[in-house]
Amino acid sequence: MPAQIPPHGGQLVNRALSAEARAIALERAHTLPVVQLNDLNLADLEMIANGALSPLTGFMERADYESVVEQMRLANGLLWAIPVTLAVDEALAATIALGQEILLAEGARPLAIMQVRDKFHFDRQREAQQVYRTTDAAHPGVARLYQAGAVLLGGPIDLLNWPQRTHDEFPDLRYTPAQTRAIFAERGWRRIVGFQTRNPIHRAHEYIQKTALEIVDGLLLHPLVGETKSDDIPAQVRIASYKAVLDAYYPATRVLLAAFPAAMRYAGPREAIFHAIARKNYGCTHFIVGRDHAGVGKYYGTYDAQWIFDEFPAEDIGITPLFFEHTFYCRKCAAVVSLKTCPHDSALHVALSGTQVREMLARGEMLPEEFTRPEVSRILMESMGV
Ligand code: ADX
Ligand code: MG
Repeated sequence: MPAQIPPHGGQLVNRALSAEARAIALERAHTLPVVQLNDLNLADLEMIANGALSPLTGFMERADYESVVEQMRLANGLLWAIPVTLAVDEALAATIALGQEILLAEGARPLAIMQVRDKFHFDRQREAQQVYRTTDAAHPGVARLYQAGAVLLGGPIDLLNWPQRTHDEFPDLRYTPAQTRAIFAERGWRRIVGFQTRNPIHRAHEYIQKTALEIVDGLLLHPLVGETKSDDIPAQVRIASYKAVLDAYYPATRVLLAAFPAAMRYAGPREAIFHAIARKNYGCTHFIVGRDHAGVGKYYGTYDAQWIFDEFPAEDIGITPLFFEHTFYCRKCAAVVSLKTCPHDSALHVALSGTQVREMLARGEMLPEEFTRPEVSRILMESMGV
């Protein structure tokens, strides 16, 4: 069996303390100043600790932060698309000295000890423009950035406890990168395609997943389960829909369903690179990027998140992107197609907007089977109390 794809930067990070080190750390943890984590921080912490964000070992210090914002590279030159930062307000920052340890917590639950190696102000507008390509506060990722504290704390973390959600939400699907890699090896999969999603599986998703699966050994269906904007479909509902379609339409031996702990940033192109590199850490060799990946509203062009991959040498990315055109069902072709593969008039194409989908479901109407499998329509209706 050939070696698996190397993690980003070469080494899979594991910041969870051993039992012995944890016992010692817990003793001093309660003496340290406490920083409470928000949803975004909790997701980032889980992924730093479990190696999904390898080679990061903590929240970013200034050199990495500025280099990522300006050049999409860590200070050591390694490609990295999204700042992973811990923002606190001025008053709290003033009580924390450089070089000291702090306790990262979730309410009364101690999560990690962080060594504060850096403490610095940052330019929110600049980060917004560079990372999100807009300074518009109506963009959900930019809005979150504008609400964050004014000071960033940087330094490595050592995990004491996983966030509560790691135990409570989808514990059966929360494989770490080391675990997905072990499963891929056990199943003998050499080429694995990763699929990011924050939506129920529609027929277009199914089509691009299965088309990709034709040229690789296995599919990692990797829905994001961290924070999303309030009008996205909740992860509970989506996971139920994934399980239903997998049971009915996918061969179990070729698919692994796993939860991706990340929060959505809606940063479009940059987030596509971030998503791809994280999936490389999970052991994927290929990654699907379709239409408007990680996009929101009209902030990004339909294929911007594909074009950004051409700005970097393939070896800097490491994982192979698989690009898909916008796909939809054609009544004449009687298949899911794209403008690359279908010559017919758009009147023959089944297209439903998000609003149309919501309205139909609210009226208790099943979505067309060409658009969404009936199992999914039913789960979506139930979730709406219809
Ligand atoms: S997101 O992270 O990109 O926001 P979403 O669930 O909307 O998640 O899409 C998952 C993946 O499928 C992305 O790579 C997206 O580009 C792709 N995709 C979604 N719908 C289509 C479609 N109709 N045609 C082609 N690609 C699509
Ligand atoms: Mg989308």
